[in-house]
Amino acid sequence: MKFLGIVSTLLLPLILAAPTQKSTLPIVELDYVKQQATFETPEYVVYKNVRFAAPPLGDLRLRKPQPPLKETAVQNGNYSTKTSCASIMEGQEDCLFLDVYVPKLSSCDSKEKLPVLAWWYGGGYMVGSKDQTPIPPGWTNTSIGAKPYIFVAANYRLAALGFMAPDNQDIDANIGLHDTMAAMRWIGKYINKFGGDPNRVTVSGLSAGGGVVEHSLVSYGGKGTLLPYQQAILYSPGWMPEIDRTQRDHPWEAFKNATGCKDAACIRKLPTKTILQAQAWVIAHSDITRNPWFMPIVDGDFMPEEPLRLLQSGKVHKEVKSIVASNVRHEGNSFVPPDITPAEVESQFNRFSSNQTIVNKIKQLYPSDGTSNAHLNRFIDFISDIAFNCNSYHMARQWSADKKHSAHRYMFNVGTAQHGSDQAFTFGNAKGVDPYLIIQQQGWVTDYATKGADSLGDSWNWPEWDEDVGEGMWMNDTGMAVGKDYFGWPRYQERCQFIGDIIDKRH
Ligand SMILES: *[C@@H]1O[C@H](CO)[C@@H](O)[C@H](O)[C@H]1NC(C)=O
Ligand SMILES: *[C@@H]1O[C@H](CO)[C@@H](O)[C@H](O)[C@H]1NC(C)=O
Ligand SMILES: *[C@@H]1O[C@H](CO)[C@@H](O)[C@H](O)[C@H]1NC(C)=O
Ligand SMILES: *[C@@H]1O[C@H](CO)[C@@H](O)[C@H](O)[C@H]1NC(C)=O
Ligand SMILES: *[C@@H]1O[C@H](CO)[C@@H](O)[C@H](O)[C@H]1NC(C)=O
Repeated sequence: MKFLGIVSTLLLPLILAAPTQKSTLPIVELDYVKQQATFETPEYVVYKNVRFAAPPLGDLRLRKPQPPLKETAVQNGNYSTKTSCASIMEGQEDCLFLDVYVPKLSSCDSKEKLPVLAWWYGGGYMVGSKDQTPIPPGWTNTSIGAKPYIFVAANYRLAALGFMAPDNQDIDANIGLHDTMAAMRWIGKYINKFGGDPNRVTVSGLSAGGGVVEHSLVSYGGKGTLLPYQQAILYSPGWMPEIDRTQRDHPWEAFKNATGCKDAACIRKLPTKTILQAQAWVIAHSDITRNPWFMPIVDGDFMPEEPLRLLQSGKVHKEVKSIVASNVRHEGNSFVPPDITPAEVESQFNRFSSNQTIVNKIKQLYPSDGTSNAHLNRFIDFISDIAFNCNSYHMARQWSADKKHSAHRYMFNVGTAQHGSDQAFTFGNAKGVDPYLIIQQQGWVTDYATKGADSLGDSWNWPEWDEDVGEGMWMNDTGMAVGKDYFGWPRYQERCQFIGDIIDKRH
């Protein structure tokens, strides 16, 4: 047996309690299941596919997650099929699983509970899976890890099964977000059994995954049960605030057309395959501005108002003391077709609101730069701000508003700096990525997760976000360096404040 260090110390009694197990991999006993590790590497023990909710099948389709069922047999998460949630033409409905990576420690401080870093994947709330990012940051090169930590990645339901929100139907709203909350609460409740410290949990996510984190921070308008984590990293937090009713009506109408179903009872009877095909059809008939696909919505309960409004008015979970809010330099480029015409841009701006004063102001805030690509550039700027930049802006603004909290701004400008391009640096799992920059990025993530927000200043000279100074940390082609925010504070302030102000008044 090679289970030296914290894992074996904590788990030994449980292993002994299950002596009939053939495998020598450790077993963690939870109140609803005995979970055995799926495999181990020289660095860590991996528990794949731990159920954190009941299988959302049958009558539970289109409903919020329910508590996991009690299992009598030992589970080891060793499924032959992939467990990602149903998305476009692939995935399955029985997908509410999470993975736990527990480092093996050889050092003497084996009684110390480990900090925890959780990850939510992106993919526009329609694709993605916990299995996309199998390598936790900080462990690909032991020399950079300030200290080891436990890594958790969880699935959440996507597309129609996670984010369909018609009126007057027996379908829960924001199901996918409730899945992520259930997984976060699982961490708070059970991670100590894996050697983790529930009082040192950092959650993170990119794009829709950053949106997941942002929504959790404003959930129930900051009221209700305390969040089961203390810090958050939001990489390019993304979603389109509801432009108007079409955000929820269009995908619902399209889904009905694709399936022939008119109500929830009919949808609950459909084979999974029909749903996979329908989701693909809906997404093929969507675009980010005109006819959006399935996304989080204001539901009057979990999400009482638009998240930006909740951030502006301080209705947030302030028990979370620090956040890091990041953006890449060119968030919007890949979301706007390069051949979009000036007339199409004009019509996109015009349909932003039925209120002409608002439309005119938006056009004024995103003026022509006088180049032959002016229409493209200003529209990219607009999409960059409304879908990504302003989310981080409002997060940083709210968390830097008083001395008891802190925000740090991270600005990623390596290579093309397209949306999502920073993920390969966090996980070091892509070819052709500069290893030095991976070590830099994983280095600050590891410091933050294991030593907290102060370490960003202490070890990286990274100043807290302060509107009067407007400085954050850049990651550019040569490495990390402190500098002014990308666009200058006044531009953000004018645009993002306006977008925040009008967002609830457009309907
Ligand atoms: C996982 O399943 C495969 C295929 O059934 C089997 O070969 C392998 O031994 C299993 N591993 C564990 C840890 O149970
Ligand atoms: C690990 O990090 C050290 C120090 O930054 C570096 O010299 C070494 O090349 C890295 N090793 C790998 C395998 O990336
Ligand atoms: C749904 O079908 C109706 C009737 O054919 C059509 O008018 C409508 O445009 C379709 N809606 C969507 C979103 O596909
Ligand atoms: C249009 O928007 C402007 C700016 O927010 C607001 O002052 C005005 O009342 C709105 N007009 C209508 C008809 O809602
Ligand atoms: C990287 O960022 C620093 C700090 O803003 C700046 O001085 C430097 O010129 C940047 N380098 C590149 C290649 O962008």
